[in-house]
Amino acid sequence: MQQPRHFTSLLDLSSDELRTLIARAIYLKNHRDPDFQPLKGRVLGMIFEKSSTRTRISFEAGMAHFGGSAIFLSPRDTQLGRGEPLEDSAKVISSMVDCIMLRTFKHETVTTFAQHSRVPVINGLTDLLHPCQLLADMQTYFEFRGDIAGKTVAWIGDGNNMCHSYINAARQFDFKLNIACPFDYRPNQAIVDAAGHRVAFFNSPEQAAQGADLVVTDVWASMGQEEEQKKREIAFNDFQVNQQTMQAANSDALFMHCLPAHRGEEVTAEVIDGPQSVIFPEAENRLHAQKALLEFLICR
Ligand code: CP
Ligand code: NVA
Repeated sequence: MQQPRHFTSLLDLSSDELRTLIARAIYLKNHRDPDFQPLKGRVLGMIFEKSSTRTRISFEAGMAHFGGSAIFLSPRDTQLGRGEPLEDSAKVISSMVDCIMLRTFKHETVTTFAQHSRVPVINGLTDLLHPCQLLADMQTYFEFRGDIAGKTVAWIGDGNNMCHSYINAARQFDFKLNIACPFDYRPNQAIVDAAGHRVAFFNSPEQAAQGADLVVTDVWASMGQEEEQKKREIAFNDFQVNQQTMQAANSDALFMHCLPAHRGEEVTAEVIDGPQSVIFPEAENRLHAQKALLEFLICR
């Protein structure tokens, strides 16, 4: 039996595969054909241990567009939530569906699941990484500005799952990533080290945004960190994306945010709802990028 390919991280695919996938996503977006049903009769199992709007709807709609279907599974309703071993769950679920998407806390949950799955496993967000979002973000940059290779991206805020995925994207898509984050909230050192010269740290959003073609941020408290909200509001007070940040960036810089956003915290309403913001095409591209991903993984 052919070994399944997984998408637990951007590093699971080669740079060429990622670029082909982005091109395919743009094609699928612009040539919607209801008769093109490459996943007819195929089933995606979706396990969500955290909330979601975009990830759930885009995967479910994407499977429907391609003639397949998706099953939403929450730990409340499955034996996983009652402690059935991951390994057993992966073997059982992957014997019945064609692909599995997992949104969970520990990254090891996704990698362990993948090790025991007969079908492709997709990371729909862990505490460590959110690679599906980067497919959409890269597609959006390519659509608005062309190739991101050689460009500069400024990451402002928490060294979280999105920041880690941007670091991996800097490696895979060959751009420079300037990071401004509080000292105590720096990203994972091993992920930073692996990116070498592509990543640089700055003390303020304005410094990081100097010469940037894209400015990105995310919430100060991610899912699972709700009780740290107050403490984080203090720590991140100087790490907001606002008009001064955008003025420091290149005049044609784009603004992105994976959403959901907290206006007035990590970004001002003026910026996120302003002319440089592409957050809604970015959100829509979750659908197109993941259709390309599902086709790539399932139709091999
Ligand atoms: N950006 C993102 O993953 O959104 P959801 O949490 O709504 O899926
Ligand atoms: N960093 C955020 C991203 C949400 C899509 C979180 O993990 O909650």
